[in-house]
Amino acid sequence: MKNKKNLLLPVSVQSLSYIKGEKKLLNKVFCKISSKGITVVVGPNGAGKTLFLKCLHGLIKCNLEKVLFAGKPLNKKIRLMQSMVFQSPILMRRSVINNLLFVINQRKINIKRNEVMTLLKKVDLLHLAKEQAIVLSGGEKQRLSVARAIITSPKILFLDEATSNLDPYSVNIIEKIIKEVNKKGTKVIAVTHDLSQARRLASEIIFFNKGSISEHTKASSFFDQPKSSEGKIFISGKLFV
Ligand SMILES: Nc1ncnc2c1ncn2[C@@H]1O[C@H](COP(=O)(O)OP(=O)(O)O)[C@@H](O)[C@H]1O
Ligand SMILES: [Mg+2]
Repeated sequence: MKNKKNLLLPVSVQSLSYIKGEKKLLNKVFCKISSKGITVVVGPNGAGKTLFLKCLHGLIKCNLEKVLFAGKPLNKKIRLMQSMVFQSPILMRRSVINNLLFVINQRKINIKRNEVMTLLKKVDLLHLAKEQAIVLSGGEKQRLSVARAIITSPKILFLDEATSNLDPYSVNIIEKIIKEVNKKGTKVIAVTHDLSQARRLASEIIFFNKGSISEHTKASSFFDQPKSSEGKIFISGKLFV
């Protein structure tokens, strides 16, 4: 699996725009994501990071013919090979285990019960398997969201500030899983505003600013010497305003 080709790479974005009224919320975004590693998307609040991810996942109607996955425009089959975790967990009014079983049944995923249990253990929710998802803490809910996102073995996993406001225990579990699935062949594209997390996870950085990409470099180059003034502010740890 490790050296296997990822069926959705490269992700090529050719002049992607999203315009609402007068506002160019995404303004001619160009990029080519070829690396199998973890791409971390950073940038000031309101820069368009969430919109960018939503476009790549087909959640927003824009000029999507400009986005190609291994040369093909987004379609249902490609979407089913992607998963996305949002900042606020969205779970079903079912038990923890049934949140996973629902996806398994719906997608007809061939997975043994003990593998599901192993996954629940990995996100430290085995002891809560029969609890209603709604009563879980924020960290537990997000750990379940991540488990549900990876149970489909996606080719691309999008994470939008998935660990913001979580306890360090949950952040650690989620980061471990992100690295693990990436090693096994899932391309990870993650938005974060957490500088330490970007340093821990990123193999490359996409820096968003005012609706377009101002830098796309290897993580080491970005952290050593960001080109843009906004990038410098980000790595200095100062607040974006
Ligand atoms: N559906 C929408 N309609 C109008 N404006 C939107 C919509 N979604 C996002 N925006 C605006 O687009 C800009 C970028 O939003 P977003 O991608 O959420 O930023 P980020 O994730 O980088 O903080 C923001 O100014 C936001 O208010
Ligand atoms: Mg956002």
